[in-house]
Amino acid sequence: MKRIVILGCTGSIGEQTLDVVRRHSDKLQIVGLACGKRVDVMLQAAEELGVKVCATNSANAADQAKAAGSIPEGVSLEVGDDAVSALAVLPEADVVVNALVGAAGLRASYATLQAGKVLALANKESLVVGGDLLCKASCLEPSSLIRPIDSEHGAIFQCLLGERFEEVEALWVTASGGPFRGRTRDQLASATPEEALAHPTWNMGPKITIDSSTLMNKGLEVIEAHHLFAMPYDRIRVVVQPQSAIHSMVEFSDGSVKAHLGTTDMRIPIQFALSYPDRWDAPVAPLDFTQLGSLEFAPADTDTFRCLALARAAGQEGGTLPCAMNAANEVAVAAFLDKRLSYLGIADCVEAVMDAHHGETVTSIEQLLEVDAWARREADNWISWT
Ligand SMILES: NC(=O)c1ccc[n+]([C@@H]2O[C@H](COP(=O)([O-])OP(=O)(O)OC[C@H]3O[C@@H](n4cnc5c(N)ncnc54)[C@H](OP(=O)(O)O)[C@@H]3O)[C@@H](O)[C@H]2O)c1
Repeated sequence: MKRIVILGCTGSIGEQTLDVVRRHSDKLQIVGLACGKRVDVMLQAAEELGVKVCATNSANAADQAKAAGSIPEGVSLEVGDDAVSALAVLPEADVVVNALVGAAGLRASYATLQAGKVLALANKESLVVGGDLLCKASCLEPSSLIRPIDSEHGAIFQCLLGERFEEVEALWVTASGGPFRGRTRDQLASATPEEALAHPTWNMGPKITIDSSTLMNKGLEVIEAHHLFAMPYDRIRVVVQPQSAIHSMVEFSDGSVKAHLGTTDMRIPIQFALSYPDRWDAPVAPLDFTQLGSLEFAPADTDTFRCLALARAAGQEGGTLPCAMNAANEVAVAAFLDKRLSYLGIADCVEAVMDAHHGETVTSIEQLLEVDAWARREADNWISWT
C-alpha cells in the first residue's frame, strides 16, 4: 500500500488523482489532503476516503467550514501556507502529489524531497523556479525521488526507460498549439478570457489553460524538461501536434525516435507516476488507432506567441531569471483573467519584468521567494501603468 498526500486536491489534477485512488484503493491510501478555497469539496473527499489530516491556505474558507459545522468528526483542518507545506513531511506519507498551481508549490516540492519522500510532480512552476535546488540529476537516476506527472514529461520519462543518456540526441516536446493556433497578432489583440479558456484538447485549470494559449506553458515545460532530464536547452525541441495524441518523443543518436501515444487524459500519467515501476489497469479507454485519423506536425509560431521564446531565453540564462519570469507571468495571467490586461499584454509584461531583473545564481528557497515577491510587485506596477 502506498500512502499518499494530495496537495491541490480540489483542482483538475487533484480531482483526477482522487479518481485514480478510488480505482486502485487496494494499492493507494490517502493520508493527507490540501486545497485553497474549496474546503467543503476537500472535506467531502476526506470523509469519503477516510482521510484524517487536511490543510488549506485560506483562513476565510476554513472559518466558513468551521461555522457551518462541515468538518467531519475526527478530521483536523490546519490553516495557512505552512500547514499546506507541512503535509509534505507527514511521517505516515510515502508519496506527495504536488498539484498546487503556481510558484506556491515550490516550498512543498522542496520539503517533500528534503524529507526523502517521492514527489509526484504536476506543479511545473516548482521546477521552473527552483529546478537548480530540486534536481541534482536526471529523474531517471535510481536515486531520484521525482516522478513527472505533466503528460509531456511523463511521456519522455517512459521513452527514456532502459535507454542510455549518452545516446539521446534530443527531446521533442509536443504542443497542441492551443485555441489560437494559426491566428495573427492583429487577430489576438482583442482575444478574451472566454476565448482563451476554450482549449481544444485538454480540460485543465484556468492558469495552465491560459498558459497553453500563449505557449508560455510550452516554455515552462522546456525549462521543466531541462531540469528533469539534465538536458541542455539546444537539445530540447518543441513541435506542434494539434491532435495531442503524441505526448512527446525522444530522438536517439542512430536517428531512431520513440514516441509516447495515449488517450488525452491526465489520469494515465498521474497513475504511472503513482504505480511506477509497475503498470496498473488502464484508468481510461485506450487510444483507438482506427479512429485517430491523421497526425499533423508544425513548428511553433514564436513570433506571434512570444511567451515560448521568452521562457526559453529565461531558462537559457538561468539563475533567478526563470523565477522572475514565472512570477510576472502568474500576475499577468491573473490580470488578463480579471480583464485588467490585454491578451498580448501578458508577453509584454513578462518581458518588461525580465528586462528589469538583475539575475543571480540560485542559492536558497528564501532568495527565490524574495525574487518572486519582487517580480510580482514589478508586474503589478507595470500593469497599473499601462
Ligand atoms: N490540469 C492539467 O491537466 C495539468 C496538466 C499538466 C500539468 N498541470 C500542472 O498541475 C498544476 C495544477 O494544475 P490544475 O490545472 O490542476 O490547477 P487548478 O485546477 O487550478 O487546481 C489548483 C489546486 O491548487 C489549490 N491551490 C492553489 N493555490 C493554493 C495554495 N496557495 N495553497 C493550497 N492550495 C492551493 C487549489 O485549491 P482551490 O481550488 O480549493 O482554491 C486547487 O486544488 C499546475 O502547476 C499545472 O501547470 C496541470
